[in-house]
Amino acid sequence: MCSIIGYRGKQAAAPILVDSLKRMEYRGYDSVGVATFNSGNILVRKGTGRVVEVNKNLNMTAMSGMIGIGHTRWATHGGVTNSNAHPHSACKNNIAVVHNGIIENYKELKEELTKAGHIFSSETDSEVIAHLLEVHADKGVRKSLMMTCKMLKGTYAFVAVFQDGTIAGARYEEPLIIGVANDGYFISSDVLGFLQYTDKAIFLDNYDVALIDGNNMEIFDFDGNPVAHPITQVAWELGEVDKGKYAHYTLKEINDQRVSVANAARQNEVMMKRFCDVLSDAQSVYITGSGTSYHSALIMKQMLARYAKIRAETVMSSEARDGLIGLDEGSVLVAFSQSGETADVLESVKIAKKQGSRVLGIVNVTTSSLARTSDAFLAVNCGPEIGVAATKSFTGQLALIYNIVARLSDGNLVAGEKAEFVTAVNKVIASSQSAIEKMADDMKEVNDIYLLGRSVHYPIALEGALKLKELAYVHAEGVAAGELKHGPLALMEKNTLVILLNPVDGTYNDSISNAHEIRARGASVIGISDKRSEVYDLWIEIPHLSEEAFYPIVEVIPLQMLAYYLALAKNADPDYPRNLAKSVTVK
Ligand code: AGP
Repeated sequence: MCSIIGYRGKQAAAPILVDSLKRMEYRGYDSVGVATFNSGNILVRKGTGRVVEVNKNLNMTAMSGMIGIGHTRWATHGGVTNSNAHPHSACKNNIAVVHNGIIENYKELKEELTKAGHIFSSETDSEVIAHLLEVHADKGVRKSLMMTCKMLKGTYAFVAVFQDGTIAGARYEEPLIIGVANDGYFISSDVLGFLQYTDKAIFLDNYDVALIDGNNMEIFDFDGNPVAHPITQVAWELGEVDKGKYAHYTLKEINDQRVSVANAARQNEVMMKRFCDVLSDAQSVYITGSGTSYHSALIMKQMLARYAKIRAETVMSSEARDGLIGLDEGSVLVAFSQSGETADVLESVKIAKKQGSRVLGIVNVTTSSLARTSDAFLAVNCGPEIGVAATKSFTGQLALIYNIVARLSDGNLVAGEKAEFVTAVNKVIASSQSAIEKMADDMKEVNDIYLLGRSVHYPIALEGALKLKELAYVHAEGVAAGELKHGPLALMEKNTLVILLNPVDGTYNDSISNAHEIRARGASVIGISDKRSEVYDLWIEIPHLSEEAFYPIVEVIPLQMLAYYLALAKNADPDYPRNLAKSVTVK
């Protein structure tokens, strides 16, 4: 969601803050702001738009001082306006605050504060934090932080700068990390906020407050008791977030899959064994995730049933309240999340743990909350994914699923980094890019796209539809192909476009029959298959595989490309789709 950065050190703060905000912009990008402290004054510059635009207009980088805070916003409460952009100041401009999360009791707090004479300048829930800190300011910065935190309900990570130059942050259910550099401290919602300056990080826990004052940093809880956390060394590769020769991160990340699927398939033996032991010992298995990660959950369920004879239930993380009723000590929840910070996923984990279940995480960000709260986790190892649309993290999750299932399958499935899908992914990326670019250009007037697939191809139909919606802003619907005749066939007519996921496997003949039914109603069919058919108006060729379980990881790639090129054809920014954020840390 929003990104937060604070810095106190020996260098000019503003250029560092702006640079960090650019790196974390994928977390939220509707407005941006910076506050710096210099000679007893707090100066704020903020506005709507992307970091580069706002910086061009307001010259945030030129703000003076070696202490400051910054924020990029993804609006929750209050529209996308300059006044709703963070930082928010208290009445006397003696405190400025940036916040990520939702303050659920902000209305009551705002009412009380307004009665007490505080004047609000925004519609946000976040602004109450600045005013509460001001209310308690006479008790000192330390006490005011503790008292403020105790009054807040909801989820938050916030960082504040005070008139004495102290910066401080507190967290409850939103990530906040301290970066320890040789000449100062950072405090950020994401290690990417400071990784180009230091690889030493301290991960704060719920109820932690960190205060950076002079050259010292101390951590205490909401009652003032000291808290100690180790300094963790974070892998530098996480900081490699360059687009390289590509026009967009999304295109780079689609192409990264030539290597990233093999990286995901190459797993640490000890961690893999531990993960699989917990899974195979479980009396009941539940699998969860949100968005794309939920589609991985669906595939894992099918693979476990088919190859390892393990029955599992899938639960969308946002539906966990009912979906996870009845778990117990014998249950295991497998949680998929690229970021490891998705609020709905973390909530599922909480619900599972409360019932005594064990949790297995599958994450890309190994320093994330999910990785740290899981009983065991496996890493997707695909490197930083910056494009808001999940691409390489999805195929990484699939490669990992193949490994896990292969291990539990008693020889029914053989996977690993030498599996044929690694070469097939390379082939499909190399062979289909230019044809799909042309196809996308011809599709830019299409308003509705239906994606059909049976069995393991159904989750890919859902995933393809999600990519088309979020990148190309086109209505797209994933349909289980067998359900066509139970309703969706009524929508088939001239100008309807259907994409059929139809590799040559056990589902092939039934899906070909569906294609005929669709064509008979005048609609057009694009077939994604290793075999040409006269029933397709257009054919996207994928490599033939001898193991049919591997088709999903290959057939999703043309859909990612189609969504990317359709976004370009429609002048949309594929890296930063409207209204979305990469990491959804609010419910
Ligand atoms: C995917 O393209 C989306 N941007 C989104 O659905 C995403 O997969 C979802 O928010 C879950 O994120 P996570 O994997 O980081 O938990």
